[in-house]
Amino acid sequence: MRPTPWSSIRFRVLPCRYETVISRLLGSWVVAKASAPGKLILFGEHFVVYGLPAIATAIEARTVAEVKRAGKFSLQDNRPETPGYRNEKRDQQSDSIQRILRIMRLEGEKVSIELGGNLIAASGVGASGASCAAIAAALNEEFTLGKGIDEINDVAYEGEKGYHGVPSGIDNCCSSYGGFILFRKDLKTGKGIVRQLHSKAVLSIIIGNTGITSNTTKVVEDVKREKQRDPDRFSKMLDDYSMIVEEAEAALAKGELKKIGLLMNRNHLLLEEMDVSCPELEELVDIASRSGALGAKLTGTGRGGLMIALVTDETKGRVASAIEKAGFRSEITRIGAKGVRVER
Ligand code: MEV
Repeated sequence: MRPTPWSSIRFRVLPCRYETVISRLLGSWVVAKASAPGKLILFGEHFVVYGLPAIATAIEARTVAEVKRAGKFSLQDNRPETPGYRNEKRDQQSDSIQRILRIMRLEGEKVSIELGGNLIAASGVGASGASCAAIAAALNEEFTLGKGIDEINDVAYEGEKGYHGVPSGIDNCCSSYGGFILFRKDLKTGKGIVRQLHSKAVLSIIIGNTGITSNTTKVVEDVKREKQRDPDRFSKMLDDYSMIVEEAEAALAKGELKKIGLLMNRNHLLLEEMDVSCPELEELVDIASRSGALGAKLTGTGRGGLMIALVTDETKGRVASAIEKAGFRSEITRIGAKGVRVER
């Protein structure tokens, strides 16, 4: 843990007005810093909104938030991005930060927030969840609020509402707790239930980026409308997915890579049927499959964002170069990274 800023310790014994004056003077150089990982959903985006379990992982790339008290509120977003992402999300980000400050009872505090790190801000990688968790942890540190990991996760969930409307909570849980998780939203309480998973096999994942920023609130709404339009068809898709995730959990535990790949393909077909894919995602899935990936699917919201492919040491180079050759960006990532943490 980063040591409590000495300004905060000393101010406890001073009358309030001195506290404020001195904290303003010191605030210009006391910086609290925290980071949180992005995420990838291996199984169950969208289905998770309807209370079914999903399997997801924290990835090694992280968003870093630096917070310090300042003369006025400011936000500087220096995260690397898919072109246009930050601009497109600006209003949602501002709503999200206000929500975070409000729930932490820091409304009206003059803070400067700076975002950076190596997580590319893009749809599908949990960019908003990572930034919410990192900001919450940095604010917790700066204002010595003493919140534990579960409370930080609750704050990050509140921040996610600015981006997602009513999120399932899977993204913030990945960014807060890290690791490789089975997540389920209890629809009665609205609470997320998280269980850490262990895979016998090392999963090697290649990400293909469509370069398109999607709007999660809109896509989730469209899916809901589709459910209302044809409840029987939707219910059949939920049943099919339930079998996929059950088999996937078992295959992961046993380290059956080929089976995991086939189940990813089946999950993708269901997402396509749900109408959350798009031509660019279909092209990426097709390229990955033709280049020898064990399985491929869209990940996250869909209608843009990212495709993930399960590869082996032998196929990863071929899959990555085929993606690049077709004009998309590709990236290989390690999974199961650590959750939110304070940085020194
Ligand atoms: C977004 O990363 C995942 C969705 O299932 C939405 C959610 O879970 O809140 C599409």
